[in-house]
Amino acid sequence: MRDADDPTVCICQEVTEKELLAAVALGHHDLPALREATGANTGCGDCAVDIEELLEFALPDGRTSLR
Ligand code: FES
Repeated sequence: MRDADDPTVCICQEVTEKELLAAVALGHHDLPALREATGANTGCGDCAVDIEELLEFALPDGRTSLR
């Protein structure tokens, strides 16, 4: 179901922004980890840029990892 407050980031696997942010909060801090945790980016691959942008937004100071 579409939710205006929770846009779909990965169309292929129907993974939403909130699902990805929840996975980031659980410690999945890069694309491979998010791919494994959510299934996002396991289809056409086009959403990689959007997921990377979401990571930049979600992680402080533009870091790609909290570790
Ligand atoms: S849109 Fe995410 S893999 Fe195709």
